[in-house]
Amino acid sequence: MWVKMLEINIIEAFSDNYIYLIRNETKNITSVVDPGESAPVIRFLKSKGWHLDEIVNTHHHHDHIGGNTELLEIYKSKLIGPVYDQNRISNIDILVSDNELINVAGVKTKVIHTPGHTLGHVCFYMEDEKCLFSGDTMFYLGCGRVFEGTMDQMWSSLLRLRFLPNDTLVYCGHEYTSSNAKFAKHIDPNNKLLDDAIVEIKNKREKGLPTIPFELGTEKNINPFLRADDQKFIDSINLKKSNPEKFFSTMRLKKDNF
Ligand SMILES: [Fe+2]
Repeated sequence: MWVKMLEINIIEAFSDNYIYLIRNETKNITSVVDPGESAPVIRFLKSKGWHLDEIVNTHHHHDHIGGNTELLEIYKSKLIGPVYDQNRISNIDILVSDNELINVAGVKTKVIHTPGHTLGHVCFYMEDEKCLFSGDTMFYLGCGRVFEGTMDQMWSSLLRLRFLPNDTLVYCGHEYTSSNAKFAKHIDPNNKLLDDAIVEIKNKREKGLPTIPFELGTEKNINPFLRADDQKFIDSINLKKSNPEKFFSTMRLKKDNF
């Protein structure tokens, strides 16, 4: 029987960021993913009586690393971050690069380099825990804006995430789900699975609950940005047809101005 080692706690930050506080009770290790702010993390740790052993950063944006300095000062945690960002994130102890296997919260974790949103962006995949920390690369029903990389890079990055098993639970960096759902519905109006997801999303948001995590298997069929090579999807929608890279780019630009 599969037994989860980790408890993943969701901490809200700023207006729509998520910080993930990962607890491995068996090994007495606590790690945090993308602490954009320190205060809510410190509050949570204090309430549980936990020490913060590790900080993990997916990319250099301030809303993902803004809490690093204070947390490092208080807890003397180890900081894990992308090798590409070694000059953009201060005090990284463990630089990680594509396909590297590391330990996060005491479990085996694969680093997946996903350039696009930023050039150095990495995602963290825990196969045994069936979970992925996708930062600002993949969101529920969406994907990150392409700031530093190219559209082709972002599409390739999303394809790598799409290759992961269907039962993977995805923990992304923001609660953008409701606005992503509006866009998804706009360009894919006749998708029953999407409609079902939207009902569930509305219910959760009305109760003030996070829509995170979401399951990758369903996402492969309802997130338009994962379907730029799906001929049936492409044929069904009213956008200029071309190769997957161009089609992805057209969708991303359309969403930027949606
Ligand atoms: Fe970002």
